[in-house]
Amino acid sequence: MKFFIDTANLEQIKEAQALGILDGVTTNPSLMAKEGITGQDNILKHYVDICSVVTGDVSAEVISTDYEGIVQEGETLAALHPQIVVKVPVIQDGIKAIRYFSDKGIKTNCTLVFSAGQALLAAKAGATYVSPFIGRLDDISADGLNLIDEIRLIYDNYDFKTQILAASVRHTMHVLECAKIGADVMTGPMSSIVGLLKHPLTDSGLAQFLADHKKGN
Ligand code: E4P
Repeated sequence: MKFFIDTANLEQIKEAQALGILDGVTTNPSLMAKEGITGQDNILKHYVDICSVVTGDVSAEVISTDYEGIVQEGETLAALHPQIVVKVPVIQDGIKAIRYFSDKGIKTNCTLVFSAGQALLAAKAGATYVSPFIGRLDDISADGLNLIDEIRLIYDNYDFKTQILAASVRHTMHVLECAKIGADVMTGPMSSIVGLLKHPLTDSGLAQFLADHKKGN
């Protein structure tokens, strides 16, 4: 399972990269705005800065919603750096653009996916990644993990190569359940990654070992 961090914060990205387990980064317009990155030039520069501190794929989202606009924006983003993956919303013009990018060998992440039908179309169009937002489904009392399950079944039935990128991950149990189901990638905040390390028996065991070592010296 690949681990992506879902942030535009360079310090957090560096921290995750330093752990040695990071496979990539996802961003979105809200995450960029949260870091105060505004204006086209600053946004493009920030994507390049992110690519320079990680080794894996970096999703950069288009703002356009019409086919020509998505294609133009996506080509500009893809030309920035070989690690850039063009993130495109799962709308009609988006699916058409994903097919165009796929035919040109440009990597894509089909985003804002909330149903198995949307995921099926993303795979048919040749998306590199599909991003079902599990946390946002849970927020409205729907079952985010069940959606991952459905997409896994459909993709396996037809051997689709599109990778399931579990997005809107909020906590460690999302990560673990996605790993059990067989999501290819998860993207979440740093807390959902380092939280996997936490166990009281590790803490108390380590404290005991250190105390015993001190007594013996
Ligand atoms: C995914 O690519 C999105 O950027 C992200 O996971 C959305 O997460 P949120 O629902 O916590 O905003």
